[in-house]
Amino acid sequence: MARKTTFTFLALAMLAFPACQQEQEALDVSSPSGKLQVRLLLAPQGQPAYLVTYDGKTIIDTSTLGFEFRDAPPLAGGMELAGQAQNSINENWEMPWGEQRMVVNHYNELSATFRETSGDKRYYNIVFRVYDDGLGFRYEFPEQPGLKEASIMDENTQFQLTDDHSCWWQPGDWDIYEHLYNTTKISGIDAISKRNHPNLAQTYIPENAVNTPVTMKTAEGLYLSFHEAALYDYPDMTLKVDNHSFLLQSELVGSDRLGYKAEKTVPFTTPWRTLQVSETAGGLIESRLIVNLNEPGKLDDVSWFKPTKYVGIWWEMHLGKSSWDMASGRHGATTENAKAYIDFAAANNIGGLLVEGWNTGWEHWIGFEDREGVFDFVTPYPDYNIEEVARYAREKGVQLIMHHETSAAPRTYDQQLDTAFALMKKLGIHSVKTGYVGKIIPKGEYHHGQWMVNHYQRVLETAARYQVAVNAHEPIKDTGIRRTWPNFISREGLRGQEFNAWASDGGNPPEHLPIVAFTRMLAGPIDYTPGIFNIKLSPYKPDNQVNTTLAQQLALYVVIYSPIQMAADLPESYQSNPALQFIRDVGVDWERSEVLNGEVGDFVTIARQERGTDKWFLGSITDENGRNLRVKLDFLPAGKQYAATLYADGPDAHWNEDPVNFTIRKFLVGANTEMELRLAPGGGAAMSLLPATEEDLQALKAYEE
Ligand code: NOJ
Ligand code: CA
Repeated sequence: MARKTTFTFLALAMLAFPACQQEQEALDVSSPSGKLQVRLLLAPQGQPAYLVTYDGKTIIDTSTLGFEFRDAPPLAGGMELAGQAQNSINENWEMPWGEQRMVVNHYNELSATFRETSGDKRYYNIVFRVYDDGLGFRYEFPEQPGLKEASIMDENTQFQLTDDHSCWWQPGDWDIYEHLYNTTKISGIDAISKRNHPNLAQTYIPENAVNTPVTMKTAEGLYLSFHEAALYDYPDMTLKVDNHSFLLQSELVGSDRLGYKAEKTVPFTTPWRTLQVSETAGGLIESRLIVNLNEPGKLDDVSWFKPTKYVGIWWEMHLGKSSWDMASGRHGATTENAKAYIDFAAANNIGGLLVEGWNTGWEHWIGFEDREGVFDFVTPYPDYNIEEVARYAREKGVQLIMHHETSAAPRTYDQQLDTAFALMKKLGIHSVKTGYVGKIIPKGEYHHGQWMVNHYQRVLETAARYQVAVNAHEPIKDTGIRRTWPNFISREGLRGQEFNAWASDGGNPPEHLPIVAFTRMLAGPIDYTPGIFNIKLSPYKPDNQVNTTLAQQLALYVVIYSPIQMAADLPESYQSNPALQFIRDVGVDWERSEVLNGEVGDFVTIARQERGTDKWFLGSITDENGRNLRVKLDFLPAGKQYAATLYADGPDAHWNEDPVNFTIRKFLVGANTEMELRLAPGGGAAMSLLPATEEDLQALKAYEE
């Protein structure tokens, strides 16, 4: 049961401060522990502003707030503080599936009303929620006589940083998040140089801005990450960077078609602008700030979805072994092939099968301008008997995962949502992977603008009505709305494994995932598609490879969170490889998660307890540097023996020289065990920890270094 305590310190009181008492026009609110503090104030020209301190030290200096409109004067200066209210919440809520079962939602809230002193006397509330692990604030525009419709040209929310922090960033692209991360100081951020990316079908980077989450480390060792929560009916926020003053400012994604960035009718609220703050890098991963800032769940029953591992008729297309289309003569999605994958899944404790290229239209997929009406989402190719595959999957206890590639023609998809989901319902299919490769039609709209945000939401809500869970590729970024809409189970929104198969720049370098864990993963679940065993992709792609060891591929099942985790490689790459046992065993839904160590861009180790069992799993990954990491297994229950199976890099393993060199060791451990994980360059370690049976106690020895 959720426990909820609400204290109202002060009901909304309309307080008018005389202009001469400006120094008193500040309102303070702090986190429950008092460490994180926010001050709201009026800057000299009567512009609302805020600043943030942590442990008494300023981390965001005076930063102003405001808006520009198309047909109305800006909301900037000339305002007064017209009222305030405070509130505190301390409650627990349960995730239907997730990184952990119970989540604490504990914050102090300050809502301040700022009103113009003249003219239409327009006003808005700034609402701050301050947690021990960060904060969120948003604008609320209540119904008012002076403001009815708002064509927003931009939102001007500032984040005045205090120094030239180290920063892990990717360019503020209006169309795609599939970029490598860069590691520079704030002064070195140069998004413009990332334009015209050779590996991306679409990209639009108009400013020196960054996408969020963007993560930083201060000289004192404090970690900061900026993002947003609860993005609905509004554009994605990128952050424009001033390299000299270290000022970040919101830069909303726009629409060339409309010429403004957001169209709103009052009353409305913006998404939360968020800042996660932690003294350790791992604390960022453990923070549940982004989901906490979302509303409670809207779906009464989600029992129709179960977290699962899955295989796919997928990697074989990316390797060029088969193709999505039929005209090539190498069609992958045949009835026979699907049955072979189903057999493999059923034999290996893998619950799902994704089939791409099952529907007609792929001959006209990438690189075509006239993509409207190409895909219909209900017509299978003649060599794919969808009813028979669904029947066979049911017989074998495997769930089919539907695939809807829209080729970025969302209007075509919108028109067919009901027919598409009705077919899924008929076949008993409860999840869909959607895709939006290419430039959005109509021209002038971008993947991350308000128009598309509304499209993704419409798909999600329609899917929910048909009991369908959505895993979107080329998505809008995750802002924690899975709390409200749990059927948004996962998404891509990063450079996934697929880049290793075909990118012309060498694929994802070994540092990619140790950065992703502290940036993109703070937003929410990732469909990264781990588990490639044929690291060198031979014989299919002589010029490409995965840039990790095999042991790291196993570790990713634990390190990267998603309630659907792909065993991405071809069945023949797994056959007779003893490392497959880890994929069979590993959980996908968690009671608890603990980050044992980590540094952004370097390494991270996470332990997770499977929900509904006593089993624990541990994953550890490193960048291009090999390292030995000491870990304590004190997350295990005291006094209980566990049989550990450790899948580790072999002595000479190396992501490039010798990536499939691994060892498997079994031993007994307990809460007192301390061990050393030896990670090769680009390597990793994965460990399953199962309560020891009588047999284990007889057969296994205690862990020794
Ligand atoms: C891009 C997606 O990321 C990939 O997973 C998918 O196979 C292709 N689009 C085709 O839809
Ligand atoms: Ca993609």
